[in-house]
Amino acid sequence: MPEPLIERYRSRLPLEPGDPVVTLNEGSTPLVEAPVISERVGARVLLKLEGANPTGSFKDRGMTVAVSRAKGSGAEVVICASTGNTAASAAAYAARAGMRGAVIVPEGRIAIGKLAQALMHGARVIALRGSFDRALEIVRALADSHPVELVNSVNPYRIEGQKTAAFEVVEELGEAPEALAIPVGNAGNVTAWWRGFRELETAPLVYGFQASGAAPLVRGAPVAEPETIASAIRIGNPARWEEAMAAFTSSRGRIEAVSDEQILAAYRLLATGEGVFCEPASAASVAGILAHGLPPAPDAPPPRTVVCVLTGHGLKDPDTALNKAPPVVGCDPELSAVERAIFD
Ligand code: F0G
Repeated sequence: MPEPLIERYRSRLPLEPGDPVVTLNEGSTPLVEAPVISERVGARVLLKLEGANPTGSFKDRGMTVAVSRAKGSGAEVVICASTGNTAASAAAYAARAGMRGAVIVPEGRIAIGKLAQALMHGARVIALRGSFDRALEIVRALADSHPVELVNSVNPYRIEGQKTAAFEVVEELGEAPEALAIPVGNAGNVTAWWRGFRELETAPLVYGFQASGAAPLVRGAPVAEPETIASAIRIGNPARWEEAMAAFTSSRGRIEAVSDEQILAAYRLLATGEGVFCEPASAASVAGILAHGLPPAPDAPPPRTVVCVLTGHGLKDPDTALNKAPPVVGCDPELSAVERAIFD
């Protein structure tokens, strides 16, 4: 059984001595070799399976710390805006802490598994007739005027918790990978990974990938109506814009865009070639290195190892999976019919 993330990294996390540990034993996620993708990009590629966290995404790393601190400080309600995963995680940790949760999501625009989670955990789910970016503006204003804890990644404890993913990778490899590939939405996670690496005095190249219809950091300007099949990263005005750009610049990495077609091709390749089912947004990390290669820092050789962060589990978004997968094969209940169905 994995040790709760807060116990594993307590000395590196800013909790107060009296804070309760609100945990579902998150973190300690698998780092798996990706031979098929390694072959294609000509480097050793490893996949960090963040979908193996308790609610199926990396958000649990930040949420255990943010909700523990919120509970310790006496808060009774946590709120967030979300494209789905933050909502599911906030709802679960609020339930665990005996707190109330309210989550604001863009109406009809989040994957169905995430909605089911938030509802089952008893959060108040508010479907906003507007974008994620608008929802974030509203919850920020709300948190200024009400006694509620905002658990979006603008919350510093979220970033602190999420940086532990970098610690795990460095511990497991015995050194930092030479590059990191990561999907970018609101830009909290890339900020957190970079902080984790810097705290260990390491500096892999950081390659961030946005969906081309929702790529404000690549364009250098907010996107008013972001659009992509990867609903988790359908974000037009990332909250941690400057910090994310600083990570790409200081690491001598890149921020690039990948098309929905490239995301879906990587999503399928991961599932059929590597046996790993992640959600579409997560596949942007692999799509990115397949599309853009592994550009080296000036005067340096190309990286030999790259960790791709697979941020969320494929079961989060069964609709996209079923729409993109081959059909099931109907069959009469006869041995010969089953034989034909399998072997023809
Ligand atoms: N991948 C997945 C599966 C996500 O859910 C998110 C963000 C990201 C990548 C991007 O991470 O925002 O830190 O750059 N999801 C947020 C949410 C926005 O509300 O669940 P980021």
